[in-house]
Amino acid sequence: MNYNKKTVKDIDVKGKKVLLRCDFNVPMAKDGSGVITDDKRIRAALPTIQYLLDQGAAVIACSHMGKPKGEVRPELSLKPVAVRLGELLDKDIIMAADVVGEDAQAKAAALQPGQVLLLENTRFEKGETKNDPELAKAMASMAEVYVSDAFGAVHRGHASTAGVADYLPAVSGFLIQKELDFIGGALANPKRPLVAILGGSKVSSKIGVINNLLEIADTIIIGGGMAYTFSAAQGGAVGDSLLEEDWKDYSLEMLQKAKDKGVKLLLPVDTVIADKFAPDAESKVVKAGGIPDGWQGLDIGPETIKLYRDAVKDAGTVIWNGPMGVFEFEKFAAGTKAVAEALSETSAITIIGGGDSAAAVQQLGYADKMTHISTGGGASLEFMEGKELPGVACLLDA
Ligand code: 3PG
Repeated sequence: MNYNKKTVKDIDVKGKKVLLRCDFNVPMAKDGSGVITDDKRIRAALPTIQYLLDQGAAVIACSHMGKPKGEVRPELSLKPVAVRLGELLDKDIIMAADVVGEDAQAKAAALQPGQVLLLENTRFEKGETKNDPELAKAMASMAEVYVSDAFGAVHRGHASTAGVADYLPAVSGFLIQKELDFIGGALANPKRPLVAILGGSKVSSKIGVINNLLEIADTIIIGGGMAYTFSAAQGGAVGDSLLEEDWKDYSLEMLQKAKDKGVKLLLPVDTVIADKFAPDAESKVVKAGGIPDGWQGLDIGPETIKLYRDAVKDAGTVIWNGPMGVFEFEKFAAGTKAVAEALSETSAITIIGGGDSAAAVQQLGYADKMTHISTGGGASLEFMEGKELPGVACLLDA
């Protein structure tokens, strides 16, 4: 796939109406108060919005939030995003009551250069996730240029992430550009050695990424719940740990592929086990593959930490996707913390996939020590799997 795409800098936006797809799918407080608990994704969109405004464009921003499945769900309204965006830009944001309805059309028609209109949640429209051409056309009809900066949603081929590009000149914003440069650069032309650290609970959700990275990386480090499936596949006892029986053969295939390709694949040598899945569980350290019944592995052990720290020390590039253990419980956060710390100390280019790993790095206080933390969870994973991203493929080639 070609990631060399035209950007906002390659197109004249002065005096034009620009439809800007952002990923404003931000976490909200569960109590329905409309409080945004993490505005990182809104902040990440600011450079492109500010640039467009500085160039004299009128910005029609849009995004999805949650999964309302074509229904108008007030709790998934983008109104709180409009408020936060207004605070961050120090500007009044005009909020539309719908996506392509009368209100949005009228407000878009009246929009002046230097103003920002935010459309309602694109997924309030049934046609959004189906990439309905009528919806895409209606969205496109409000603007003259399409800019996508919604990296977190580029793996979705929806009306607002891909369909609109059939009707408007389509370019990327600075955030997508940055994500493509860092993640794409690490995959296509990494500073070696390239070390990939893969964690998280399930082998099944990381199959594509392990397979693709075995083609590219020099070392692959496995941690998190999925390590127990690898261990069981090799005949280890994993007690009550997370285990995907159906993926044992696949794990063995991956070990063989690593051998054939000369990729170093590191698995935990010891593990911290717990007598229950709880923050106050009793815990102890045992050798990998030696977990008694009634116990479950919730973190990598101290020997493994040493091994993994050494493996990233002299890396040129490190890609990290997925925590090493249940870092949400203090008692089982040491492995994830140690990896984050090791990454903060290495001189390597460090790229953190979105979702859980990004949350872990932030929660543990190492965010500002990383070269790049992706704003996309599913998107960065599919990128690392080597899949085509519809929200990028639809943009004009540079
Ligand atoms: C995300 O949060 O990963 C993106 O906003 C995409 O959301 P989705 O998984 O609902 O498409």
